[in-house]
Amino acid sequence: MSNYKIIKRSDLEGKKVLVRVDFNIPLEDGVVQDRARIRNAAKTVQFLREARAKIILMSHLGKTSSFNPDQSLEMVRNDVSDEYKAKITLMNDYLSENAPAAIAQTPSDEIILLENLRFHMEEEACDMGFAKKLAGLADFYVNEAFSVSHRRHASIFAVPQFLPHAFGLSFKNEIQTVDNFFLKECSSKMGLIGGSKLSTKIKLLKNLVKKVHRLALGGGIAGAFLSFLGNKTLKIFDPKEYESDVAEIMENARRYNCELIMPIDFSALINDRDSFKHAIISSDKDEASIFDIGPASVDLFKKNIRESKILLWNGPVGLFERAPFNFGTMSIAKEVAQLTREKRLVSIVGGGDTGFAMSKFGVAQDMSHISTGGGAFLAYVEGSELPGIEAMSDAHVLD
Ligand code: 3PG
Repeated sequence: MSNYKIIKRSDLEGKKVLVRVDFNIPLEDGVVQDRARIRNAAKTVQFLREARAKIILMSHLGKTSSFNPDQSLEMVRNDVSDEYKAKITLMNDYLSENAPAAIAQTPSDEIILLENLRFHMEEEACDMGFAKKLAGLADFYVNEAFSVSHRRHASIFAVPQFLPHAFGLSFKNEIQTVDNFFLKECSSKMGLIGGSKLSTKIKLLKNLVKKVHRLALGGGIAGAFLSFLGNKTLKIFDPKEYESDVAEIMENARRYNCELIMPIDFSALINDRDSFKHAIISSDKDEASIFDIGPASVDLFKKNIRESKILLWNGPVGLFERAPFNFGTMSIAKEVAQLTREKRLVSIVGGGDTGFAMSKFGVAQDMSHISTGGGAFLAYVEGSELPGIEAMSDAHVLD
């Protein structure tokens, strides 16, 4: 991150600044369910106001490639206005010839919000003509959308190639937190990786196993490892599919002195004469539908977390949306929150579901850092290059 520019006042003073934010926010019946991503950009917005910049925000909302009123950023406008204490003007026709003049006439204390970028298919196609038009609206580009920077889309990858640019304050914080986790000397680093699909976490595990002292596995991922070890608990996995990946991760765990911590029991539904009932089973039981790690595993994971100084957690260890299978994720979340409050642990939490679980269990504010990123967090932690970072090198500013 040290090679990349962060916003500074002298670059922004009195300029028109196009800020890519991520207002892709959960809505229910048109009502915003969580303002975290709006708050996330608040410091950068305040910074720009103090620099007397004209602020033009742009974002996507949902998955679409044409106009859809249910995905209009009108849905979030009032919440943005409330958080930023400013009038927000939604601009629809930002590709028209009149757009620059309309922006110039907007009073300087108003914030302009461009309508959902994904209403134009050129956004996802990373169309350079579209990007050039967007860039033509401003003098400077700021990326404050870490959570979408794994997408090679026009507003992320192409626009910064036409304008001087810098990262926002929250983006910087996201990257620095993960960089510090990897780079800082620490005698006791732990990774906790859950989630349902091993396929999405293989690169992450391959990277982490070389860099942490202990790595605990929950969710379906643990099941896949246990299957590989000859255990039949999770019959849904075909251990052969990932055999070489799992073997490589286990070999590297040995080579890099990383202790792998597996669940020793599970919370499951078992078939009891044609009706299913909840049971705690040991990790070597055959043919059960498991949905969470069991209480002995929770104790084991908590003990290891207490012995660590810094934890990176991605992925719930069970089906946290539904009791009693929320037990594992909730118990661990509460332990991590308490240790963090007592300043005995630095806790970094990332991934859409994991962040949502922390909010659900009322401990989000206790964590040292909760990433706004789902896929972007995963990509950064696994060591992949993010298009949103790649594009911000000063080497290629186009005319
Ligand atoms: C997210 O919510 O993870 C980002 O906004 C990216 O959204 P996308 O998965 O629709 O590209």
